[in-house]
Amino acid sequence: MNTTELLPHVNAVLNASTCVLLMLARVQIARRRIQSHRAWMLAALAVSALFLVSYITYHLTSPIFVFRGHGLVRPLYYALLISHVLLAAIAIPMILVTAWRGLHRSDVQHRRLARWTWPVWMYVSVSGVVVYLMLYQIYR
Ligand code: HEM
Repeated sequence: MNTTELLPHVNAVLNASTCVLLMLARVQIARRRIQSHRAWMLAALAVSALFLVSYITYHLTSPIFVFRGHGLVRPLYYALLISHVLLAAIAIPMILVTAWRGLHRSDVQHRRLARWTWPVWMYVSVSGVVVYLMLYQIYR
């Protein structure tokens, strides 16, 4: 397996890691552990940034991998893929503004936006893993 072939698997691991980091950060803030919440969120941001670089590299260097499933699973796959891509585009500015407000301790504004950002980011990460499983593992 060459480097490009490896990238979809690397991307899935990075996406799954983001889910875990988001969960850890959520649990920490529920316990009012602000420094720990901050650290896990910055880790989630770093992993997502790595993912973005790897994802772009993969799509610039590889042909499009066509989904091989048939029947009802096909519209389901595309609905998942489209919702994943659209929400990923919306998530990026939301994540940046939320992190900025968190780092500057604009707590009220941070909290207001974070209540939307966290579930959107989580959905994007989980659906990324499911798209990967459907495309490269289950229907290959
Ligand atoms: C994009 C990154 C981040 C996301 C998605 C995020 C998400 C969240 C969520 C979901 C909450 C709980 C909101 C609620 O009470 O329902 C929260 C609260 C909080 N976060 Fe973040 N957070 C991020 C980054 C940060 C950073 C870098 C800091 C820096 C210290 C921070 C500090 C806080 C604080 C102080 C609270 C409590 C605010 C309050 O209850 O008034 N967050 N965050």
